[in-house]
Amino acid sequence: MPKLIVTTREGTVQEINGDAGLTVMEVIRDGGVDELLALCGGCCSCATCHVYVDAEFAGALPPISEDENDLLDSSDQRDGRSRLSCQIPFSAALDGLKITIAPED
Ligand code: FES
Repeated sequence: MPKLIVTTREGTVQEINGDAGLTVMEVIRDGGVDELLALCGGCCSCATCHVYVDAEFAGALPPISEDENDLLDSSDQRDGRSRLSCQIPFSAALDGLKITIAPED
């Protein structure tokens, strides 16, 4: 099972085994990290699943869509590592993916 390495807002690091086929948001949520609100349930309409992706994995991610890009623009916390975790399908190719939960807006 591929592994996701999550750093919370408080700096706690947690390793979560996730099913390929889920989104990164779902893996985080199912792993018990409750600070990722994911209010819209993955419909790309709330931006409360905002994470920072470790630079070494940037090239392994799917390209950012226009909708995701527009939503991220609404966040004051956006930077070059920002993605919406509900828009990233988790897979074996992302084993060891490191993400950090972005601060709340
Ligand atoms: S869960 Fe709402 S945009 Fe990702």
